[in-house]
Amino acid sequence: MILVLNGPNLNLLGRREPEIYGTTTLAELETSCVEAGRELGVDVVCRQSNHEGQLIDWLHGAASEGASGVVLNPGAYAHTSIALRDAIAGIEVPVVEVHLSNVHARERFRHRSLSAGACLGIVAGLGTPGYRLAIDYLASRRERQQGG
Ligand code: DQA
Repeated sequence: MILVLNGPNLNLLGRREPEIYGTTTLAELETSCVEAGRELGVDVVCRQSNHEGQLIDWLHGAASEGASGVVLNPGAYAHTSIALRDAIAGIEVPVVEVHLSNVHARERFRHRSLSAGACLGIVAGLGTPGYRLAIDYLASRRERQQGG
């Protein structure tokens, strides 16, 4: 199973600053993630929270829920949350950080991600297809590790 976690304000996708984040809603994004998983033969479970502690609790629980990887869009917590970074660093399950927008082409305060350094890798600026790339990578990594 691959867990897809979306952080604060991503519940507003589709309506929120569409010139930056596009017009795809969170529900549509989550459906496309589940479909991508189905094509790859892996279950995908999607969750969104506006609360830092909830995201941390889900990361802590990822292994016991049977997740082989986590796709995380931390939203603005990427730029502010040492606690989120520590949660990622503290678990065995690999985490790929995804940003819809190219955070490096935006305001200076978005150039630094505190969480990214604890992640396996980062995808930024590719919009919603970035989630699929991350799922694809985590699914094939799991297969490689299982010797498949
Ligand atoms: C974001 C980028 C963040 O800087 C911003 O705070 C978000 C969305 C993205 O997906 O591009 O909420 O994570």
